[in-house]
Amino acid sequence: MENLLIVDDNEDVLTQLKWGLASESYTLHLATRVDEALDIFRKFSPGVVTLDLGLPPHADTSEEGFRGLAEMLKINPATKVVVVTGNDERENALQAIKLGAFDFFRKPIDLDELRVIIRRAIQLHAIERENTEQKGAAEAAAMGNYGIVGACPAMRGVLNLIGKVAASDVPILVSGESGTGKELVARAIHAGSLRRKGPMVCINCGAIPENLIESELFGHEKGAFTGAVSMVQGKVEYASGGTLFLDEIGELPVNLQVKLLRFLQEMVIQRVGGRKDIPVNVRIVAATNIDIAAAIAAGTFREDLYYRIGVVNIHLPPLREREGDVRLLADYFLGRIASELGKNVTGFSPDALAGLETYAWPGNIRELENKLRRAVLLTDSNLVTADVLGFEAGSGQEGGFSLGEHTLKEARAMVERKMIAAALAKYDGNIVKASEALGISRPTMYDLIKKHGIEN
Ligand SMILES: Nc1ncnc2c1ncn2[C@@H]1O[C@H](COP(=O)(O)OP(=O)(O)OP(=O)(O)O)[C@@H](O)[C@H]1O
Ligand SMILES: [Mg+2]
Repeated sequence: MENLLIVDDNEDVLTQLKWGLASESYTLHLATRVDEALDIFRKFSPGVVTLDLGLPPHADTSEEGFRGLAEMLKINPATKVVVVTGNDERENALQAIKLGAFDFFRKPIDLDELRVIIRRAIQLHAIERENTEQKGAAEAAAMGNYGIVGACPAMRGVLNLIGKVAASDVPILVSGESGTGKELVARAIHAGSLRRKGPMVCINCGAIPENLIESELFGHEKGAFTGAVSMVQGKVEYASGGTLFLDEIGELPVNLQVKLLRFLQEMVIQRVGGRKDIPVNVRIVAATNIDIAAAIAAGTFREDLYYRIGVVNIHLPPLREREGDVRLLADYFLGRIASELGKNVTGFSPDALAGLETYAWPGNIRELENKLRRAVLLTDSNLVTADVLGFEAGSGQEGGFSLGEHTLKEARAMVERKMIAAALAKYDGNIVKASEALGISRPTMYDLIKKHGIEN
């Protein structure tokens, strides 16, 4: 519960306020002098103070009041001080605001009006305080973890595992949906390894045309093919002494999987068009957003390669399954983005928080980061609200999808999750009825509930 401190030298006023505000939901403290008020202030750190400016020993001037205001704001600048002035003290009231008072209020006191002002001040103070606390927690969570923010049990497990395996040379397979932080984890592994001073070379196996992958990976000799005018080293060779990050390994064509496997077994390469075995010393970290087990079953991924690269598997759960982390990440990104863009945006409105928590995040952390960047750019206020985040006010759910921001896969996942949650809500969690209504089998329903991390 918030603390409210009332400072007034008039006992009648104190009694009136004490009774008038008794039913409100905060703890009330009363003082008649500045020094007494400051003692209470230090002890209870009230979020809101109402401060009469004319206090003894100079009750006819506002000197003591201004001293009290300055002292309190010095001790805790976040305090909302509402200054109470006589009817004809407009100048003083404005001066107080300039010095950092939250608002002013003229005597004689209208209780209803004062209640509204105090409620607003308390609410704002509570939001601001929560925001600073969260920010502190987010910064702490990022520190020492190579910028990986996460406090949910699964992510603590991930961080723990990274700490255990980074320093060894074992190959690691990082799996997880798009935008869950696979590359960030790969970088953390490199940074935590003894190879950290060596290079980290990234290859996106899904982005290179199939006919170029081999020379991209292993290099080629002069004259190896038309246009090969000089010898070119491959990325594997470049990575020697460091880490080779094979992104989207699941996209690697099967014939290259064979070549990669041979390299992993022997740790030697041959450039395209070359005969010489060139030894390379690299540590492999691979990433995939497809289900490798399913790809093996479908015959598109070689099992023997999987056993080579997947000695240790670090799985990154989707954001919607990381309980409590959305808030932590949102605060972390907000702080970074606001300072990067030089904007004074300090926190989230309650409807924005509700939206962040209920949204399904099909694009995971990358989507959260992008949404926040746009919101910070667009907002005119120092709190990010649900509407600048693109959430419908109140519902916390996304209205539509937009090209460029969502892939078809993400949009499908969002609709899927929405429909399943809606069916479960409608039938009170009854799986049989909900799956009938959706036209799917019960096992499929269970799979989807699990996939989307829906609580039932
Ligand atoms: N736990 C985290 N803490 C802080 N930032 C994160 C975290 N996870 C991801 N990010 C940030 O989110 C963005 C996306 O992460 P990253 O590129 O590593 O994802 P990815 O899994 O490789 O995605 P894709 O499958 O699309 O390649 C990056 O800017 C990254 O720094
Ligand atoms: Mg990636």
